[in-house]
Amino acid sequence: MPKNLQLAITAFGEPDTLKLQQTDIPTPSEDQVLVKVAFAGVNPIDAKTRAGLGWGAEKIKDSLPWTPGFDAAGVVVHDSGEFKAGDRVVGRIVEGGGYGQYLCAPSDALSFVPEDVSLEQASTLPVAGLTALQALELANTTKDDKVLILAGAGGVGHIAIQLAKAKGADVFATSSSKNAEFVSSLGATALDYGKAPLEQQVQDIDVLIDLMGGDVGEAALASVKAGGRVVTVPTITAPRIIEAAEKRGVIAQGMLVQPNVTQLDALLNAVSDNSLTIEISKIYPLEDGVQAHVDIQSGRTRGKILLEIPQ
Ligand SMILES: NC(=O)c1ccc[n+]([C@@H]2O[C@H](COP(=O)([O-])OP(=O)(O)OC[C@H]3O[C@@H](n4cnc5c(N)ncnc54)[C@H](OP(=O)(O)O)[C@@H]3O)[C@@H](O)[C@H]2O)c1
Repeated sequence: MPKNLQLAITAFGEPDTLKLQQTDIPTPSEDQVLVKVAFAGVNPIDAKTRAGLGWGAEKIKDSLPWTPGFDAAGVVVHDSGEFKAGDRVVGRIVEGGGYGQYLCAPSDALSFVPEDVSLEQASTLPVAGLTALQALELANTTKDDKVLILAGAGGVGHIAIQLAKAKGADVFATSSSKNAEFVSSLGATALDYGKAPLEQQVQDIDVLIDLMGGDVGEAALASVKAGGRVVTVPTITAPRIIEAAEKRGVIAQGMLVQPNVTQLDALLNAVSDNSLTIEISKIYPLEDGVQAHVDIQSGRTRGKILLEIPQ
C-alpha cells in the first residue's frame, strides 16, 4: 500500500526534532479534497510552533508527532465536487500538513492555480500573501497614506510593499543594507535599520505594518503620527505593542491570518498578470527541512523559502 512521507515535529525543541515519518494516505471526508502536495511554504510560525512557542504550539501540544505546513500547493488526486483529478490547487491549510506528500484539504480553502502561475509561486501565497493583504485592509490603507513596513525584505513584507504600492500609498520599508536594493526594486523607499534610529529616518507615518514586534516594533511607534493606525503582526508580542501604542495616542491591532479563497484568488491573479512578483530565495528538498527551519528562525531569509515534496 502506498505510504505518505511527512516531516513531523516529534517533540518541542530544536530543528532536529523534525523527523521524517511514514503514515497511511489519509481518506478525505465529504467536504475535503485529497491533495498530493508539490511545494509547501516555510513560515516563521512553523519554527515557533516546533520550538513550543505561541498559539500554534498550544494547539498541537497533545497531537505530537504533528506535521506542520499551513501553505500547500499541489494536485488533486480524485474527482471531488468542483475539483477534478489533476487540477492544480493551493490553500491555506488551517490544520497543517503541508510538509507531507498527501493531505486532506477543506474544499472551501482551495483555489485553482492559474496556468501561468507555478506551484512554487502559488505555495508562497496563502500565509504570507494573505497576511500582507489582510494587514493592509485591517489598517484601512488608502492612496493617501504614508505606510511604513518593518521587515520589508521578508516573506510577508515583500508582498505587503507591492500591495501597498498598488493601492497608491507612499511606502517606506526597513531592511538591512544588503536588502536595500531589493526593497527599493519593489517600490518602497528603503530604510536601513542599521544606519540610524528609525524615528530619525522617517516621521508622520499614517499606517505602520509591524512585521517585527518586540523592541523593534515598539521603537517604530515613534515614527507614527498621532491618530495613525498600526497592525502588529507577530502575535506573541502584540499585547505589548498595543499597550505601548495606546500610550502614544496611536491605534494598534493584532491579527491572525484567515483563510480566504477570494483573496487568495486575487493574489494568484496578481502573480499571473505580473502585478505581484514573488521572491523565492531557496527551495529545500523535504528531507532538508531541518536546515529550512534553521534558516527561517534566523529571521534573515529574503522573500520566501519552500520545501519541495518528493513525488
Ligand atoms: N499573525 C499572523 O497571522 C501572522 C502571519 C504571518 C506572519 N506572522 C509573523 O510576522 C512576522 C514576519 O513574517 P515573515 O514571514 O515575513 O518573516 P520572515 O520572512 O522570516 O522575515 C525575514 C526578514 O526579516 C528581516 N529583518 C530581520 N531583522 C529585522 C529588523 N531588525 N528590521 C527590519 N527587518 C528585519 C530580514 O531582512 P534583513 O535580512 O534585511 O534584516 C528578513 O528578510 C513573523 O514574526 C511571523 O511569525 C504572523
